[in-house]
Amino acid sequence: MQASPDCDGKPRIPGKDRAHSLNIPQQRKRPMNHPPNPLSVRKPEHPIETLFLKRWSPRAMSGEPLPRADLMRLFEAARWAPSTYNEQEWRFLYAHRATPAWASFFNLLMEANQSWCERASVLVVVLSHKVFTRNGKPNPVHTFDTGAAFENLALQGAAMDLVVHGMAGFDFNKAREALKVPDDYAVEAMIAVGLPGDPAALPGDLREREYPSDRKPLSELVFEGAFGG
Ligand SMILES: Cc1cc2nc3c(=O)[nH]c(=O)nc-3n(C[C@H](O)[C@H](O)[C@H](O)COP(=O)(O)O)c2cc1C
Repeated sequence: MQASPDCDGKPRIPGKDRAHSLNIPQQRKRPMNHPPNPLSVRKPEHPIETLFLKRWSPRAMSGEPLPRADLMRLFEAARWAPSTYNEQEWRFLYAHRATPAWASFFNLLMEANQSWCERASVLVVVLSHKVFTRNGKPNPVHTFDTGAAFENLALQGAAMDLVVHGMAGFDFNKAREALKVPDDYAVEAMIAVGLPGDPAALPGDLREREYPSDRKPLSELVFEGAFGG
């Protein structure tokens, strides 16, 4: 099992499906605590489009359904990402909550991710085609290109005021098996998509972490010439 460095959760408990034990209507009776606004927290070193700062990875979601047309707008944004030879290596498998497919996606997640994903509207598994379509040879940038597609999707979600949260904290091998992923496709990541929810409904430690993160200074990331400058 592969785990994200930022996912400290234990592997999921087989057969445990917390999504079905939720009482979402009761949740929504309480007044909503608003999540922090990333635009008032994040300060870029250089002027950029505000959408880049607005995109962040909240965990608080309402559990309300996401209309299919809105979901397709996210995939449409992903579709226009650049890729080597226009390969478009990305593939997306998804399940809406309260559908038969939901449990097989939700049960892939590590427990730490299940604790907040139980209020997601949609779970997505991201795949990438590992070989070139035209000759079957290994494509060295299938992951790079698919990451670009994810970011397109995430930015579109931010523009629509949705929660889009990437995840590596799930069982990659089980995803391959459960979702019948062909051998020439890599399992890359999962994504939780939802409508924003009340941060107060998150488990304690996650409630404290529900805050837009900062970034390393550009001077640590960018070098003119050789590595390190
Ligand atoms: C590929 C990928 C995997 C991630 N895995 C997890 C995860 O398993 N659990 C989680 O809570 N957050 C996960 N995150 C969210 C990151 O922690 C988050 O993107 C990072 O801290 C930067 O914060 P921001 O997205 O709010 O700007 C993941 C993000 C990406 C892109």
